[in-house]
Amino acid sequence: MKKIFEPVSLGNLEIKNRIIRSATLTNKDCADGVILPNLIEGSAALAKGNVALIITGMFGIGVNSCAADFMPRTYIDGFFENLCAMVKAVHENGGKLVVQISHCGANAMVLEEGENPWAPSDILSVMGFEAKEMTKEQIARVIADFGKAAKLCKDAGADGVQLHCAHGYLLSQFLSPYYNKRSDEYGGGIENRARIVFEAYDEIRKLVGESYPVMIKINYSDLIGEEGLMPEDSTWVCRELSARGIDAIEVSSGLALTKETRPSLKVEEGAAEGHFTQGALRLSAEISAPVISVGGYRTREQIEAVLNMGNIAAIAMSRPFANPLYIAEWDK
Ligand SMILES: Cc1cc2nc3c(=O)[nH]c(=O)nc-3n(C[C@H](O)[C@H](O)[C@H](O)COP(=O)(O)O)c2cc1C
Repeated sequence: MKKIFEPVSLGNLEIKNRIIRSATLTNKDCADGVILPNLIEGSAALAKGNVALIITGMFGIGVNSCAADFMPRTYIDGFFENLCAMVKAVHENGGKLVVQISHCGANAMVLEEGENPWAPSDILSVMGFEAKEMTKEQIARVIADFGKAAKLCKDAGADGVQLHCAHGYLLSQFLSPYYNKRSDEYGGGIENRARIVFEAYDEIRKLVGESYPVMIKINYSDLIGEEGLMPEDSTWVCRELSARGIDAIEVSSGLALTKETRPSLKVEEGAAEGHFTQGALRLSAEISAPVISVGGYRTREQIEAVLNMGNIAAIAMSRPFANPLYIAEWDK
């Protein structure tokens, strides 16, 4: 029988128990892209409270990658020093830190180049911006930026990186037929839609080496039926990543287009927990990489039960570890 409070290996990353803080971005995390002391202290407090692994909120990897000006930016001067301080503070309190590296694609709002966000295909973004189909040069640049960001996190002492490939941001947009209407080798069947994900992963591996922990957060389903990413295609992508040596896969769902497709939902007291448990369980039966389940876990009983239903290695949570005042704002 698996216990919550026992060590577990996520590929090459050993953590002291099965509780993870899933990626959580807040509007107090940084100023002009540089991590603020408040984020360092908050992360240290989670580590002190025995959260085994803290996954940072999404951090931008390069130009046009950020969905908000309060997203930390790995590619600017002054970022590295504060990331080093954050790693140190988490380590001193007995925790581990993984940085979520992200490109927000059509949802980018900080545009350093051109007038339009970048996307797999021309689309009006959820925020109402006209996103433009990326050229192959832009795709190559984003892949290179993922690699550089990962290497920088490794150099700062972070315990790993997590590719953000969920919730309708750039990599998730490429996987999703809803966003990806391309007719070149980056669009069409899942082998093509997933090409950028594999190329980004391979670039990261090339720069950080075989033994550095690299994870991914991915949608099991976009929750919009066949218009979006479906479980069988997501499973295929995860199987390929598992074969390539990914250290762990965090399974979420939802393209975040509407309330019904939101990946982050309030759980009323006594209500059912684990919005995406079934997908994580199914996936964990299909692949050898460790699976992390996220979405709506609130009680010790439920977490322990899910850990023992199948092959799920760890449980990640966001809302229970966040400032309730901020969450109330966020839910409006
Ligand atoms: C305030 C807030 C910020 C979030 N930021 C991110 C993020 O930066 N990257 C990400 O992958 N998910 C993000 N999420 C989603 C969570 O990581 C998680 O997948 C989701 O909230 C479901 O888990 P929970 O029910 O334990 O909150 C965020 C959620 C919240 C509430």
